[in-house]
Amino acid sequence: MRIALLGSGPVSRSLALGFVRTGNEVVLGSRDPSSGSARAWLDAVGEQGLAMDLRSAASSADVVVFAVPGRALPEVVELLAPETLAGATIIDPTNPVVISDDGVTNAFGADDSAAEFLQRAFPSAHVVKAFNQIPAAEMGSPPPETRTPLRICGDDTTAKETVAALARRLGWQVRDLGPLSRARTLENAAVDWIRNQRANT
Ligand SMILES: NC(=O)c1ccc[n+]([C@@H]2O[C@H](COP(=O)([O-])OP(=O)(O)OC[C@H]3O[C@@H](n4cnc5c(N)ncnc54)[C@H](OP(=O)(O)O)[C@@H]3O)[C@@H](O)[C@H]2O)c1
Repeated sequence: MRIALLGSGPVSRSLALGFVRTGNEVVLGSRDPSSGSARAWLDAVGEQGLAMDLRSAASSADVVVFAVPGRALPEVVELLAPETLAGATIIDPTNPVVISDDGVTNAFGADDSAAEFLQRAFPSAHVVKAFNQIPAAEMGSPPPETRTPLRICGDDTTAKETVAALARRLGWQVRDLGPLSRARTLENAAVDWIRNQRANT
């Protein structure tokens, strides 16, 4: 399967390495495919990785991972035409964290989520929330047997089966929480966790 990872940060690198290890083709979509960060991604992934602009990467893949800051999703969506992702499965690992003088807040509030925002932006794609509660370094590696299952949610059964199969090949057990609106719970829990971590440091 060909998987595009948008964004060249730690989440993108970890998942790309895992997806290559489990027999997939990966492509990086970056705002600047010649940046130091994109080059570091290519160095980590090796000769099986390719880097291109966001739109080319997204339109070339069956599965597209939005490995970008959750608060930056509106900017990323602006750079992608809606038809670019028609029929694609979108994996959304984002946490829409905003850190300001008001503390740690959720960019989409309590009654919405980054995942639902993406689904509205790309109505003919199928968004699955996944991986947002896992540290980047652990995402692409087989987890210990005691690890809590990976929780996913989404409105399209086939897309959820695709994501669950990819995650199981990485070594994860998977628990389906139901519809995409459950992303609110997953995202708020992660934002709360980040808020508590910052309060305790
Ligand atoms: N790090 C973790 O442990 C972790 C764990 C769970 C979930 N998450 C979530 O997963 C997502 C990715 O995490 P990350 O740590 O890899 O993020 P990051 O390092 O902050 O950013 C990832 C990439 O997004 C692109 N990017 C940054 N700002 C952007 C903007 N304004 N517009 C468009 N693209 C932008 C950049 O790639 P290019 O310059 O190549 O475009 C950047 O390398 C985030 O939503 C995060 O909350 C992270």
